[in-house]
Amino acid sequence: MTAPTPLIAGNWKMNGLAASLAEAKAVAEGAKAARARVAICPPSVLIERMSRELAGSAVAVGGQDAHAEESGAYTGDVAAEMLADAGATLVILGHSERRATYGETDSLVAAKVKAALRAGLEPIVCVGETLEQRKAGEALKVVTGQVRGSLPADLAGKAFAVAYEPVWAIGTGLTPTTPEIEEMHRAIRATLVEMFGEAGRAVPILYGGSVKPSNAAEILHADEVGGALVGGASLKAADFLGIVNAV
Ligand code: PGA
Repeated sequence: MTAPTPLIAGNWKMNGLAASLAEAKAVAEGAKAARARVAICPPSVLIERMSRELAGSAVAVGGQDAHAEESGAYTGDVAAEMLADAGATLVILGHSERRATYGETDSLVAAKVKAALRAGLEPIVCVGETLEQRKAGEALKVVTGQVRGSLPADLAGKAFAVAYEPVWAIGTGLTPTTPEIEEMHRAIRATLVEMFGEAGRAVPILYGGSVKPSNAAEILHADEVGGALVGGASLKAADFLGIVNAV
């Protein structure tokens, strides 16, 4: 089975106003010859405008979270159908900031993944251990457990990605060593094959956590790394393109 096309996705988190759309346009301009699929996940209120600005470009637009239900009395929440209606084609689910701040469990993330599929969105499902879990030698067990718990069987035959993001590497400038990344990505791959058979080999496994232009090439060329989920360095087109072009 051929290796999946790498995916480089930018997670703007709660950053960006209408003026930031210029950065997205610059990414689209600079990514024309990219060897990777490229996506930007802005705050939900920018999705519609960004989708219009990037229409016809190679850059896809995604959400950062979605509610599991299609509609209802959930003040402040956004449904997967709404993201799709606004022009998103992907959605990040189960990011550690949501798991930690909003208490999202594996089973809630799995319900959100089903919602994304219902809406025709490609889910990017995040997993990752805390520093305490790594120090206790539990990283592999924790992360493969999150993969099993967060990916519903409904994903069989569907396009989706898994993002390995060690919590302690997010926004800290710290990254695992390349052998540590490879060990984890191989364990995730084995779990995906266990769950989805040979189709599990075609799922891109992204690395996320302090990816920047200076470390992107080494990380992206590591075994079983199928792209990156980029936070801070996705906010400036020049930095993000430095990562996109490291594929
Ligand atoms: P970072 O964030 O690149 O700023 O470390 C990554 C993420 O949280 O997806």
